[in-house]
Amino acid sequence: MTTEKNESDYVLGTHDEEVARLGLQHRIWRSVVLDCWRRAGIGHGARVIDVGCGPGYATVDLAEIVGRAGEVLAIERSPRFLEVARQACGARRLTNVQFRNADLMEQEIGAIEFDAAWCRWVASFVSSPALLVQRIARSLRPGGVAIFHEYSDYRTWRLAPCRPALESFVHEVMESWRANGGEPDVALEFPQLLRAAGFRVLDVRPRVLVISPSDYEWQWPASFIEINLARLLELGRVTGQWTNSVRREFAEAAADATTLLTTPMFLEIIARRES
Ligand SMILES: C[S@@+](CC[C@H](N)C(=O)[O-])C[C@H]1O[C@@H](n2cnc3c(N)ncnc32)[C@H](O)[C@@H]1O
Repeated sequence: MTTEKNESDYVLGTHDEEVARLGLQHRIWRSVVLDCWRRAGIGHGARVIDVGCGPGYATVDLAEIVGRAGEVLAIERSPRFLEVARQACGARRLTNVQFRNADLMEQEIGAIEFDAAWCRWVASFVSSPALLVQRIARSLRPGGVAIFHEYSDYRTWRLAPCRPALESFVHEVMESWRANGGEPDVALEFPQLLRAAGFRVLDVRPRVLVISPSDYEWQWPASFIEINLARLLELGRVTGQWTNSVRREFAEAAADATTLLTTPMFLEIIARRES
C-alpha cells in the first residue's frame, strides 16, 4: 500500500479543510441524493457499495437507510479519508459498514453481488473511467443498480455578470485535474462506458444550480475556490498574484446582491446491470 503517495497525488488533497468542504458539499446536495437513492430502489436491507467514499458523508446516510438488515461497503484510496469515515460511522454506532482501503485502478471490488453502487465525483479523478465502470459492474448482482453523480460540463461554472478571473480559475481547475490524469467532463463518456460494461441506463438528469450570494449553496463554490487557490499554489500551477486576482473578483461578485452563479453541471445517472 503506497499510503503517502495516495495522500499527496490526489489533486484536491486530503487535508482537514478538504474533509470539511466535502461535508458542506454533501449537505448542499443531500436532498437531491436522498431522492435519487430512493428512486433507484435503495432502501432497508439493501447492500450498497460507496465507491470512492471519501470521508464517508454519504456512507453514514447509506448505512442509516439500509439499516442492520443491509450492508455498506465503503471503498476509498486515501487511508486518511477512510479513517474519518470509520470514525463518523463509529460515532453513530453504525455496525453495518465495512471499510476497504483500495485503489480502484489497481484492485477489483470483486464479484460480491451487491444490490447497488453509489459513485459520486470519483470518475473525474481516475486514469481509466472504463475500468472503474467495469469493476463496479462486476461487483453488482444482475439487476443491481449503479448510480453516478459525475460532471458533464464543468465550464457551466460561471458568474453573471461575467468575471474573467473566475473563468480563468475554472479553466485552471480543469487543467489541474487533466494534468493529474483525470477528466472533469467525464460523464460525457458514460453512455458508451455503461453500455460496454453491460449496463442499461434507466434515468439521466442534469444537476445544476443558479444561486445568489445570500443562498446557503453559495458556500459550496466559495469554499471550493478558497481551498483550491491554496491547492493550485501548492501544486505550483499558479502565482500568488493570480490567486489574489481570483479572490478579489469573487469577493466583488459576492458583495453584489444581483450576482448569479451557475454551478458546474453534473449528470445523475441511474443504470441497471443487465446480465
Ligand atoms: C471529490 S472526492 C468525493 C468523495 C465522495 N465520493 C463524496 O461524494 O463525498 C473524490 C474521491 O475519490 C477518491 N478516489 C480517487 N481516485 C480513486 C481510486 N483510484 N480508487 C479509489 N478512490 C479514489 C478520492 O480519494 C476521493 O476520496
